[in-house]
Amino acid sequence: MAAVIGSPVRHSRSPALANAAFAASGLDWAYVALEVAPGQGAAAVDAMRTLGLGGLSVTMPHKYDVIAALDRLAPDAEALGAVNCIAWDGDALVGHNTDGAGLLDALALDQGIVPEGLACVVLGAGGAARSVVRALGGGGAADVAVVNRTAERAEAAAALAGPAGRVGSIADVERADLVINATSVGMGADPADASATPVPPELLRPGQTVVDLVYLPLETPLLVAAAAAGARPVDGLGMLVHQAARAIALWTGQAPDVAAMAAAARA
Ligand SMILES: NC(=O)c1ccc[n+]([C@@H]2O[C@H](COP(=O)([O-])OP(=O)(O)OC[C@H]3O[C@@H](n4cnc5c(N)ncnc54)[C@H](OP(=O)(O)O)[C@@H]3O)[C@@H](O)[C@H]2O)c1
Repeated sequence: MAAVIGSPVRHSRSPALANAAFAASGLDWAYVALEVAPGQGAAAVDAMRTLGLGGLSVTMPHKYDVIAALDRLAPDAEALGAVNCIAWDGDALVGHNTDGAGLLDALALDQGIVPEGLACVVLGAGGAARSVVRALGGGGAADVAVVNRTAERAEAAAALAGPAGRVGSIADVERADLVINATSVGMGADPADASATPVPPELLRPGQTVVDLVYLPLETPLLVAAAAAGARPVDGLGMLVHQAARAIALWTGQAPDVAAMAAAARA
């Protein structure tokens, strides 16, 4: 048994993704969503030990407070100070963060794009942005400009990319090869609502790849603007699928069927 803990979590797509992966591989596993009240993340980790759960996904608001109950952190989780997946290593519970690697997998495996040498702009400086900034820096991006509403958070996030990281401004979008929206702007928006994009559409151009981590709606106003400008729009389901695939590989020791997961996510 594996589960996702969060609050609210009842509308999570994670059970659909994971159960599709288990079915496609013939694995005798099941995955459920467990609503865990704020402040109870560490208690849920203790319950994982008591109940013998095989794996746990962690979403907001527990990504930080589960850490106190874990035996150790893998390097990505340690650097980010946030955990999105918990796996057993023998008798030890280890916290991982598969978000950044999930994005790089989505770019490489689904789009044929590697960050090496690219000029990148990351919009946002929250949990998702931090994982993406670190992954782009680790992946050899030439420039990782972080643009955020709150300047202090941008500085802390940019540092995660190493020497390539810096605080940028929205004007950097025009020169970027890869633009990633990791703000929540566009969430729940009408795709036709041009005011709900985090980037003025006139800054987008052909040759760019524009990724929106927001996946509700799947086609966000930013992706509509990117397509209209001749850029390549990439929706947020790829990262969602690939970060989950990495979690399942950690739990089961087997690489899951990513195509089955992607089909379930889109369905
Ligand atoms: N596709 C995936 O696999 C995946 C994975 C993780 C997250 N996500 C999505 O990514 C988004 C961010 O998630 P998160 O966990 O990083 O959230 P978070 O930690 O709360 O960060 C939110 C970010 O959005 C910015 N923001 C919020 N409202 C804004 C506004 N009106 N104008 C400008 N900036 C605004 C915040 O800026 P301030 O710092 O100034 O507050 C912050 O940088 C969510 O939509 C989430 O669903 C997708």
